[in-house]
Amino acid sequence: MSNPLICPLCRLPLAQAAKVWRCAQGHSFDTAREGYVNLLPVQHKHSREPGDQPEMVVARREFLQAGHYAPLRDAAVAMLAPLAPRALLDIGCGEGYYTQAFTGIAAEVIGLDIAKPAVQLAAKRFKGPTWLVASGALLPLADSAVDVIASFFTPLHVAEMARALAPGGQVLLATPAADHLHSVRAGLFDEVRPHEPEKFIATFAPQFQLVGQQTVRVPLVLTQQGLKQLLAMTPYVWKARPEKRSALEAQAGFDTEAAFTLLRFAKI
Ligand SMILES: C[S@@+](CC[C@H](N)C(=O)[O-])C[C@H]1O[C@@H](n2cnc3c(N)ncnc32)[C@H](O)[C@@H]1O
Ligand SMILES: [Zn+2]
Repeated sequence: MSNPLICPLCRLPLAQAAKVWRCAQGHSFDTAREGYVNLLPVQHKHSREPGDQPEMVVARREFLQAGHYAPLRDAAVAMLAPLAPRALLDIGCGEGYYTQAFTGIAAEVIGLDIAKPAVQLAAKRFKGPTWLVASGALLPLADSAVDVIASFFTPLHVAEMARALAPGGQVLLATPAADHLHSVRAGLFDEVRPHEPEKFIATFAPQFQLVGQQTVRVPLVLTQQGLKQLLAMTPYVWKARPEKRSALEAQAGFDTEAAFTLLRFAKI
């Protein structure tokens, strides 16, 4: 891939010399010890530690490494493999579980997340992708730089996606299906509202059209530890009463079902 990175401050191309990335205006960005580049300038941060907090990232790493969501990973890879992308960008990549899997089907893979602790953990373990701390709201990538964007459970910035995608490029969106983790949510809330994955079809119009759709259902047989990790990595618990969470976490084990909707959009 010709270098697609641009300066987050002035939007000029970045060139690499040893461990430093520089633009023609002299803005410079160091490659960190773990191998990622921080392209999120302080003036673009809306909080001191944006994105997922370290304990969420660690819980997600442990839960995903146990293989619970391998069927989602495999379905996503199967959906994207026929596109044979040259360059793939994973926005909101977290600790890199899905990003790493994409290295099997794309020549170049970039993982990008606004949370530094997540990118640090990703870069430490997975050496294939290029790792960036940056925001999906203002991608540090040239126009038309990538062929495919993956967006798994992360905030959407559709106009930026369209800009960074080459003509005919595609987005794979993973989002909870209506009844995702229904029994977990029934334990946390008095009323469980169905997720509405179809609403994203309108979010992506008119720049994108839907070209593929698949539901992935994953039965989960969780240990007490597994359920604790799952609760720690989802935003559900933020809105739940603490005593409801404690009651769930006191159970020796828990069976539930994860259900995901994969939506594939093509840039018009
Ligand atoms: C629920 S996690 C999903 C992580 C990963 N995609 C996965 O499925 O394992 C959401 C991620 O989006 C990141 N995030 C939130 N706002 C973001 C933004 N504006 N730009 C990039 N990443 C963002 C968070 O830091 C977090 O890592
Ligand atoms: Zn610059």
